[in-house]
Amino acid sequence: MTIEIVSVYKSFGRKRVLEDVSFKVPNGEVVGYVGLNGAGKTTTIRIAVGVLPPDSGEVLIDGYSVLREKKKASERVGWVPEQPIFETEFKALDYFTYIAGYYGLSSSEARRLGRELLEEFGLGNALNMKLSYFSQGMKKRFALAVSMMNDPPNFIFDEVLNGLDPQGIAFFRGLTKEFKKRGKAVLFSSHILSEVEDIADRVVFIHKGRIVGVYPMEEIKSKAGAGVKLALNRVDENVLRILSRFGEPVVLDGSKVLVRKPSSNVDEIIAELVKNGVGVLEAGREERSLEDFFFTLIKEADKS
Ligand SMILES: Nc1ncnc2c1ncn2[C@@H]1O[C@H](COP(=O)(O)OP(=O)(O)O)[C@@H](O)[C@H]1O
Ligand SMILES: [Mg+2]
Repeated sequence: MTIEIVSVYKSFGRKRVLEDVSFKVPNGEVVGYVGLNGAGKTTTIRIAVGVLPPDSGEVLIDGYSVLREKKKASERVGWVPEQPIFETEFKALDYFTYIAGYYGLSSSEARRLGRELLEEFGLGNALNMKLSYFSQGMKKRFALAVSMMNDPPNFIFDEVLNGLDPQGIAFFRGLTKEFKKRGKAVLFSSHILSEVEDIADRVVFIHKGRIVGVYPMEEIKSKAGAGVKLALNRVDENVLRILSRFGEPVVLDGSKVLVRKPSSNVDEIIAELVKNGVGVLEAGREERSLEDFFFTLIKEADKS
């Protein structure tokens, strides 16, 4: 249903790791939480699921406070930590059954559900395998299956794609689609923007403990898309008016402009600019990647 992070602050010793972190994951939305290593993703997630207290701020799961109504909040969110740790001497189905005990399932119910879920997660052949023999990818799949045990309305996954093969990633994509249909809220972190591209509806960017941008995936894709990049001797309203006849001009920095979705080739655009007395210092087609988008955002945040 809804995950809401409200002005969370956290320091470890003197080091401030989260500063005024706020964002919301509403009903039926899949939100990617993207930042470099050390940006504060895992800390946010641990606070959101209630295993780490914030210094100040609040997390609401379907309106229940993770701090004050911990039990109600936690049973409404399934989560997979960055490095799932299990009692590795257990066999998979036995361990699933053991955890299910905490949710009040009878042993026979738990074994039935465990078989069903583990099979659905591609672990049907490993029901009686010890978890210590599981590969990284199998552990992730197992942790995902466990997080779904009580069919919670919200999910939080920390770097869940890390260590998954393309098949595993496709599986996760399918799973999140299913969750969306069922109105669940999904938050998942990644340090690689292109990894979340086909999964997230929206991306929340975190950098050095601060939220530096929230964008719909569609907007990121269109901003990152191809275009004609120009370095000009001046960029003013008149220049932008000329360029808008050829596409969608976006001022990058200072005298650089990217004309998105260009309707003409580079030569025609240059000719028109020159005819109007604009100096063209550089011009070329440019493929701006998703990671460029991410790095530009970070560079701007570091400047301010
Ligand atoms: N328990 C801790 N004690 C001290 N510092 C920590 C602790 N956990 C995380 N940090 C620091 O907090 C920062 C953010 O870490 P983390 O939330 O794990 O980032 P991310 O998941 O985005 O890679 C890092 O600088 C990390 O070293
Ligand atoms: Mg992390």
